Amino acid sequence: MAGPFYFAVATYILMLAAFYWHRVRLFHIPVMASVMLFDLLMPVYLVLTRDWQRRLLEEGDILSFGVWMHFGLIITLYVLYAIQVHTAFGMLRPQDRDTTALRRDHRAQGMGILLARALVIITGAVLFEAEADL
Ligand code: HEM
Repeated sequence: MAGPFYFAVATYILMLAAFYWHRVRLFHIPVMASVMLFDLLMPVYLVLTRDWQRRLLEEGDILSFGVWMHFGLIITLYVLYAIQVHTAFGMLRPQDRDTTALRRDHRAQGMGILLARALVIITGAVLFEAEADL
């Protein structure tokens, strides 16, 4: 069932568009917030629909490098999301401060997010392949 993979790639393309059109706030903010929500809910969906007991425990995948790399990247992505939302709120409240530093941080973190998210999707696809081979 590769559906979630194609869906994740589609959301990545949408994210690239929102990255490019960052000045169009009415597009940038809802798209980025939706992608973040998608990334938070995807693990819940996968936990509910996959046989993790068999895959991780009985087949021992929990000790594999691929699973840990995927897991570590997801945690990295969540941390970057939290910091990104923090700088975003700062930019949305610009009355009493200079937002230059916030913008610079938001942009740099944004590039980190694009990289981390691409790696999450790629490592997820590799794990999916491993399951298909069984
Ligand atoms: C809910 C999450 C987010 C919110 C609320 C948000 C909000 C904003 C706001 C208000 C701006 C300023 C727009 C303007 O120029 O008027 C901005 C700029 C920007 N955002 Fe976001 N953003 C979010 C997530 C992201 C993510 C995930 C990325 C990257 C993957 C990103 C990349 C950028 C970039 C590159 C800019 C331009 C910064 C600059 O001025 O150089 N944002 N964002």
